[in-house]
Amino acid sequence: MKLRVLLCSGAVSLAQQVYIPVDGPPSLPQCTRNGSYATAIPSHSFREFSFTQTETVKMATSRPAPTTTTTFAPNYSRLSSLVPNLTTTQWGNWDPASNATPTDTGVPYGNASWTALWTAIPWVNFTRGIYSTTVEPTPVSTSELVLPPPEPFVPQTCYTFPKDFLLGVAASAVQVEGAVADEGRTPVHMDAISLLSPGAANDFVANENYYLYKQDIERIASMGIGYYRFSIPWSRILPFVLPGTPVNQQSLAHYDDLISYVLEKGMLPAIVLHHTDTPLEFYPNISDIGIAPGTGGVGYTDSGFQRSYQNVSFEEAFVNYGKIVMTHFADRVPIWWTFNEPLLGSRNGHSVNAVIKAHARLYHFYREEIQGTGRISLTLNDNFGVPRNPSDPADVNAANHFNDFQLATFANPIFLGQDYPDAFKDTISDYVPLTPEDLAYLNGTADFFSIQPYTATVVSPPPNDTIAACAANMSHPLRPYCVTQSTTTTTGWNIGYRSWSYVYITPTYFRTFLNYLWNTFRHPIAVTEFGFPIFAEAEREQADQEFDSPRTWYYQSYLNEGLKALWEDGVDWIGAFAWSWADNWEFGDYNAQFGIQTVNRTTQERRYKKSFFEYVDFVESRRQT
Ligand SMILES: *[C@@H]1O[C@H](CO)[C@@H](O)[C@H](O)[C@H]1NC(C)=O
Ligand SMILES: *[C@@H]1O[C@H](CO)[C@@H](O)[C@H](O)[C@H]1NC(C)=O
Ligand SMILES: *[C@@H]1O[C@H](CO)[C@@H](O)[C@H](O)[C@H]1NC(C)=O
Ligand SMILES: *[C@@H]1O[C@H](CO)[C@@H](O)[C@H](O)[C@H]1NC(C)=O
Ligand SMILES: *[C@@H]1O[C@H](CO)[C@@H](O)[C@H](O)[C@H]1NC(C)=O
Ligand SMILES: *[C@@H]1O[C@H](CO)[C@@H](O)[C@H](O)[C@H]1NC(C)=O
Ligand SMILES: *[C@@H]1O[C@H](CO)[C@@H](O)[C@H](O)[C@H]1NC(C)=O
Ligand SMILES: *[C@@H]1O[C@H](CO)[C@@H](O)[C@H](O)[C@H]1NC(C)=O
Ligand SMILES: *[C@@H]1O[C@H](CO)[C@@H](O)[C@H](O)[C@H]1NC(C)=O
Ligand SMILES: *[C@@H]1O[C@H](CO)[C@@H](O)[C@H](O)[C@H]1NC(C)=O
Ligand SMILES: *[C@@H]1O[C@H](CO)[C@@H](O)[C@H](O)[C@H]1NC(C)=O
Repeated sequence: MKLRVLLCSGAVSLAQQVYIPVDGPPSLPQCTRNGSYATAIPSHSFREFSFTQTETVKMATSRPAPTTTTTFAPNYSRLSSLVPNLTTTQWGNWDPASNATPTDTGVPYGNASWTALWTAIPWVNFTRGIYSTTVEPTPVSTSELVLPPPEPFVPQTCYTFPKDFLLGVAASAVQVEGAVADEGRTPVHMDAISLLSPGAANDFVANENYYLYKQDIERIASMGIGYYRFSIPWSRILPFVLPGTPVNQQSLAHYDDLISYVLEKGMLPAIVLHHTDTPLEFYPNISDIGIAPGTGGVGYTDSGFQRSYQNVSFEEAFVNYGKIVMTHFADRVPIWWTFNEPLLGSRNGHSVNAVIKAHARLYHFYREEIQGTGRISLTLNDNFGVPRNPSDPADVNAANHFNDFQLATFANPIFLGQDYPDAFKDTISDYVPLTPEDLAYLNGTADFFSIQPYTATVVSPPPNDTIAACAANMSHPLRPYCVTQSTTTTTGWNIGYRSWSYVYITPTYFRTFLNYLWNTFRHPIAVTEFGFPIFAEAEREQADQEFDSPRTWYYQSYLNEGLKALWEDGVDWIGAFAWSWADNWEFGDYNAQFGIQTVNRTTQERRYKKSFFEYVDFVESRRQT
């Protein structure tokens, strides 16, 4: 069933709404009211009883060792002229428990200047982890790789995944690395979270992936994952942030080794350049990190996109950092993202402007100067807004407004070469107008659409006034989206099975979402994060955390609905990256577990959850050969 909808904006394509029939799947012939079992009488008989059940042992299939090396760009020795005059050095660790004080006071970019970036912040409860050097990996024992009992109900469609479907896992540096003050890293805005929200858990230790990366990569490759999506913190590469400041030799060596190890284990690396970790130097006052309600914010925290440091704009400084990372690693990296969910870190219209322009500059640099053959995108967020009543034009209009604001704001210029949507321009008064030259430069600067479709939300107009009145009113409680979001549908039921927070399992809306994105922005679509935090999982016993059926249902049902979009709806869905390969630091909280592995917070030991096996098995058992 397709519904033609009334549209408020001529810029939006007509084919963007596809509604899935609610009658359920077609019945099997033997099950119909007039089928054979409708009238047949069961026959009963005795026989000798015996236990015929057997436990079939199925093992995870590890990634095979690579047989060929594909390169995606010339290596750094060929590209170094694109980032002239780089100097490299190193700084070591900041340990507040140590009495050692650097004596090179006044030396620009020296150890004293570096240490001052840490001591300037009144850290509370600063802690270090158990590791201070890279841990050599040990092979995963075969006993850990035995598949769990299958779920009783597994989707039974016959559809396959294309041979080149990207199956990956994701995490971000700030959420897993720890070692925040080690090997030259300087503070990022999210390091200060407990100073802004006292009591919030810090990222200082996290999963210690900075030292455990080899073991983590080993464990992920052992499960058969093809793509390892990770982020590189700007403040590790350039502790002093700005163009012309020295590059951190230890961080280059670290990520060089990490990339090589991913390849050695038969996977491919996929890099995010900015993932919620803006260097703290951009903030004159850490209180600036929060965005107060009623101040017209686009997102929830200020990632500094609109800021400058020593008169160098974020855009200028970020492009310099991006060029350094790309020239060093582009030879071995097939997929890049410039930004992850930039909407949520945008304070105002200037933030969005800086993001799309920095993104486009790095895209052009990669294609035209590096002449890379890999793929580039940026990842957008939108907990898909579906109209409360799809037959009510006001609800449909509200849903379009909600999705436009979050997606088209970035995607119109980048994917279509079109202006910002009205939803954004009507709400954010200081938006920076895009000229025809801007649009020509921005158009086509992403090779595929990247979305993190965790869940869906039910949308209708504001209860007391209009979307337009809200958009014009800085202190309106429903800003910035200016719609009513609810979790119940017109049936009175929740939209899906709920976790502890905003995530509901909404697989049929995932299929609708893929249709919406494909038909609106007209590019192949990768799901770059999706995942499910089970209610109170952290309070359960270890074995019960590992047997995570609700997370398994989430992955199986989403993947299955994605297959329908691929085969029945004509959508070019190219890949999926699970969030996350392990429980991690969810911005102030370690108990909001999205992982497909558990992490013991005392020992850092990881254990596979059932969903990890089921996620891989669902795809690999259906992959075309
Ligand atoms: C069942 O009923 C349908 C619709 O009336 C009919 O098309 C079909 O042939 C019937 N099947 C059998 C097995 O009688
Ligand atoms: C870089 O590539 C060139 C040409 O392919 C090759 O000669 C050189 O050894 C490579 N350098 C490194 C450091 O890999
Ligand atoms: C790099 O250094 C050379 C020699 O000092 C100088 O001529 C050139 O302008 C510098 N390039 C940049 C981009 O700073
Ligand atoms: C900082 O100190 C370490 C240890 O003494 C030294 O190796 C390093 O070169 C120094 N870094 C700078 C930038 O001076
Ligand atoms: C520091 O740790 C104590 C004890 O766990 C806790 O009560 C306090 O809230 C923490 N402070 C901050 C700023 O996180
Ligand atoms: C930082 O900002 C907060 C909140 O606006 C303010 O109370 C505080 O005085 C500022 N601190 C400095 C050092 O300016
Ligand atoms: C930034 O620019 C202003 C105006 O040109 C100047 O007064 C100021 O000294 C500059 N600040 C820095 C840190 O360069
Ligand atoms: C954007 O680029 C695409 C592909 O080159 C082109 O088809 C489209 O017309 C461009 N959009 C605009 C608004 O020019
Ligand atoms: C709408 O109006 C009602 C009644 O005055 C009020 O309780 C509610 O908070 C308002 N909702 C919004 C989103 O403004
Ligand atoms: C803006 O919204 C606030 C909060 O709902 C309301 O009190 C105020 O009257 C609104 N202002 C206008 C001009 O509508
Ligand atoms: C973490 O590991 C330690 C040591 O093996 C164990 O005593 C503890 O129970 C584990 N914690 C959890 C939550 O399983």
